[in-house]
Amino acid sequence: MTLPQHMQAVAIARPGEPDGLEIRTWPIPGIGENEVLIRVAAAGVNGPDLAQRRGHYDPPPGASPLAGLEVAGEIVAMGSVATGWLPGDRVMALTNGGGYAEYVAVPAGQVLPVPTGWSVGDAAALPETWFTVTQTLVMRAGLEPQMSVLIHGASGGIGGAAIQIASILGARPIAIVSSPAKADYAKELGAWATIDRSEDIAARVMELTGEHGADRVVDVVGGPMAEINIAASAIGGHIVQISTLDGSSAKLSLRTIMAKQLTLSGSTLRPQSAETKRAIAGRIRQDLLPALSQPGFRKPRVTVFPLAAAAEAHRAMEARSHIGKLVLVTQFGATL
Ligand SMILES: NC(=O)c1ccc[n+]([C@@H]2O[C@H](COP(=O)([O-])OP(=O)(O)OC[C@H]3O[C@@H](n4cnc5c(N)ncnc54)[C@H](OP(=O)(O)O)[C@@H]3O)[C@@H](O)[C@H]2O)c1
Repeated sequence: MTLPQHMQAVAIARPGEPDGLEIRTWPIPGIGENEVLIRVAAAGVNGPDLAQRRGHYDPPPGASPLAGLEVAGEIVAMGSVATGWLPGDRVMALTNGGGYAEYVAVPAGQVLPVPTGWSVGDAAALPETWFTVTQTLVMRAGLEPQMSVLIHGASGGIGGAAIQIASILGARPIAIVSSPAKADYAKELGAWATIDRSEDIAARVMELTGEHGADRVVDVVGGPMAEINIAASAIGGHIVQISTLDGSSAKLSLRTIMAKQLTLSGSTLRPQSAETKRAIAGRIRQDLLPALSQPGFRKPRVTVFPLAAAAEAHRAMEARSHIGKLVLVTQFGATL
């Protein structure tokens, strides 16, 4: 296939407000020896893209300056030592940046097949959140079947992934939401129970679990929730801090952390090494992909915007009106 030299991409022309995102002509990225070049059909929108647009989350050295941490599309070229894929393969991938574009170069180890029966639009909504939750909740916090998992922001990208991963692995997801519509969505994804954010969360968790508490907590909210997470945790529990949307400082009872033998861990996915991302991809492929390909698997809800309307998608995410995921579709979206 002869590749063009240029593509359309969404540049962060002015860091700050969504209007600073502009569609521009951009050079096709070069590919490293271990990378594949993906012709992007769709790119997922994630919280870290908003932070990058605002100028608060610089790309790591060597990464594309373009936003976009996940895509789905078709492999069109391979680096000299990249293995496991062939041109023409229909794939989804965790990028190191640069997903808001018509082509992106991605390490071959961060690529996964599109699950059977999935559109590329649905698949593009998966990698960033599923890699994040697999690494933190499954690999680091050692999620086991039957464990109860308290999940904040359950109708969003990370929260939805946490519900589905916990459910696939036989755990019991308890979803925290802010409206009846979001509660319904969390239940559709597999939540065992839902709690409205306005309720006494710790008391409800104790009630739901027969005073045992939550074995694992997945928190994107932080701030005042940190104290609640500790109160809601079971003995030996593990709290996974993935973001701090409501504040990065908190007052904690260290005595309760000790008395309950708790672990509090935090992580950001983007700076992880290529080896770690490859290992996460392997775990997803082995433990989660078979379930995703089952007929009847409930795909996360996806709202689609054209690539050129990235600013509109960012505004929708900031308004917190969305349920599920937001995806940008390129001119190649209709062909796959
Ligand atoms: N650590 C990592 O590696 C990593 C990876 C990916 C994402 N993240 C971060 O995780 C966070 C969530 O990402 P996402 O893609 O799941 O976003 P999302 O789709 O917007 O979901 C965020 C959820 O949190 C709830 N929420 C509670 N307090 C909020 C607040 N103050 N502001 C916004 N939402 C609030 C929202 O529901 P209600 O409005 O109903 O409360 C929503 O369901 C982001 O900050 C993102 O940057 C971290």
